[in-house]
Amino acid sequence: MENKRESWGSNLGFIMAAVGSAVGLGNIWGFPYKMGKCGGFTFLIIYILLAVFVGMIIMVSELALGRKSGRGAVGAYQKVSKRFKWVGWLSIIAPFLIMSFYAVLGGYCFQYMSLNLAELGFGLSEIFGQNISGADTFNSMLGNQFGCAMFTFLFMIICMLIVKGGVSAGIEKFNKIGMPALFVMLIVVIIRALTLPNAVEGLKFMFVPGYAVKAGFIPEAPDVVSVLGTAGGQMFFSLSLAMGAMITYGSYLDKKENIVRNSGVIVFSDTLVALMAGLAVIPAAVANGINSGVPVGEIALGGPKLLFVTLQDVFSNMGASGPLFGVIFYLLVIIAAISSAISLMEAVGVYFMDKAETKGKTGMRTKVTLWVSAAILAEAIVVSIDGLGSNGVWIPFQNLLGKSNWNGTWLDFMDCWSEGIAMPLAAMLMSLMIGWELKPDYMLEEVHFGAASRVFDVFYKICIRFVVPVAMAFVLAGQLNEFFNNGSQTVHYVLAFVILAVFWIIAATGNKKTEK
Ligand code: PHE
Repeated sequence: MENKRESWGSNLGFIMAAVGSAVGLGNIWGFPYKMGKCGGFTFLIIYILLAVFVGMIIMVSELALGRKSGRGAVGAYQKVSKRFKWVGWLSIIAPFLIMSFYAVLGGYCFQYMSLNLAELGFGLSEIFGQNISGADTFNSMLGNQFGCAMFTFLFMIICMLIVKGGVSAGIEKFNKIGMPALFVMLIVVIIRALTLPNAVEGLKFMFVPGYAVKAGFIPEAPDVVSVLGTAGGQMFFSLSLAMGAMITYGSYLDKKENIVRNSGVIVFSDTLVALMAGLAVIPAAVANGINSGVPVGEIALGGPKLLFVTLQDVFSNMGASGPLFGVIFYLLVIIAAISSAISLMEAVGVYFMDKAETKGKTGMRTKVTLWVSAAILAEAIVVSIDGLGSNGVWIPFQNLLGKSNWNGTWLDFMDCWSEGIAMPLAAMLMSLMIGWELKPDYMLEEVHFGAASRVFDVFYKICIRFVVPVAMAFVLAGQLNEFFNNGSQTVHYVLAFVILAVFWIIAATGNKKTEK
C-alpha cells in the first residue's frame, strides 16, 4: 500500500465526515415527506429494518472495500474483481450526476437564508408592506435564472475550497465543526416546531399507524411492496451508499479502526438525524397548514414545495422570531448539503488522484478539484436555469419508455440515472460480487483488522449473499416504477429480477481473482 495516500486525522474525524456525507438533503427533506407519503409509521419500521439488514451490510462492505484497495470506487472494483471490474464506473457517474442538482438545491438554501437574514436585519416586509410568501418567493426565485446560477456557483466555490483543502485539513475539519453545529441547530428548530399550536397533529401523522389516511392527509395507504421500494431507495441515498462516497472515505481509514462499530455509529446517527428532521419539519408544516385554514389533504408535504414553500410560510407566520428561525433552519440545511456535496465531489475526484498516484505523481488535488468542480458547475448550470422545469429547458428522451418520465425537469432526469438506476444496480452487483465471486470471508478479513466478531460474521454472510441482492432487486423495481410509468409495474419487477438472476449466475460461476 502506498504510504503517500492521505488519511483521516482521527477516527472521530472520520466518523464526523462520514456522518456529514450521510446527513444531507435526503434526511432533512426526503425522509420526512416520504415517510408522510407512505403512511408514517409503516414506513419508519420498514426503513429501520432495511437500514439494519441492508444498509449496515453495504456500509461495512464499502468501507472495507475502500480500505482494502486503498482506492476510490473505480480503482477498488478493478483491483478486487474480474467480473465486476466495471461496476466502479456506476459509482462515479452517479455522484457526478447527483451533484448537478445538489448544488442547485444548495444554492436555493443560500437564497432562502439570505432572504430571512435580510428580513431579520432590515425588516423587508415592513419596507415592502408584505410578508415573504413561500409560493411567490419560490416562483420568482425559479424565474430568476441568473440569480439561481450565481448561487449555484457560490455553493460550488465553497465546496471546492473545502475539498481542495484535503482529506484531513479540508473535509474532516469542516465536518468536525459543522456536524455538532447542525445537531444543536436542529434541536433548536425542533423545540420551536413542537411548541406551535396543533403541532400534535403532525406528530400523530408521523407516529400513529393509519392516522395519515384517517385524517385525510393522504388518500390511501400504499402497498407494502411500494413502501419497500421507496424506503429502500431513500435509505441508500441517505446513507450515501453505492455512490463511491463511502468506498472513498474508507480508503483514507486507518487499518486499526473498527469498521463494524464505525458503520453502526454512522447508520444510527443518520437515522437519528432523519427522524429529528422529521420532528422539525412535519409538525411545523402540518400545524401551520391547519392554523392557516388549508384543508388537511392539501397541506404540501412533498417535493420542493415542502422545503421552499411550506416551511417558508411557517417562518413567515411565526411573528417576530420567524426570520431568526428561518436563518437557523436554512443554515443547517446548507451545512448538511455542503457536507454531503464534498463527499460526492471527493468520490469523483479520487479517480483522477488515484490514477496519478499509480503513476507515481502526487500533489494533484488542487488541479483535480478545480476540474471536477468546473465540470459539475457546467451540468449544474443547466439544472439551475431549468428552474425545476418552470423555465422549460429542453430535456433529452423526455418520454422514454412511457409518459413524462422526468416530469419535464432536469432535476428528475439527472436523479433517474443516478439515484434511480446506477445506485440500486451498483449495490446489487456489489453484494453479488462479494457474496459469490469473492466470497464474504475475503471482505471479512479486511473488516477484522479492527476487531473480530463471530456473531457479526454469520449475520454478514447471510445478508450479503441473500438478503441484500434480493432487497436490491425490489429497490431497483421500485425506482423503475417511480421514474418510468408505462402502465405496468409488473414489467419492472420482471426486469429487476432478470437482471438479478443473470448477474447472480455470472458471480457464482466466476473464479475469485487471486490478489497478491
Ligand atoms: N446522503 C446524502 C443525503 O442524504 C446524499 C448523498 C448520497 C451524499 C450519496 C453522498 C453520496 O442527502
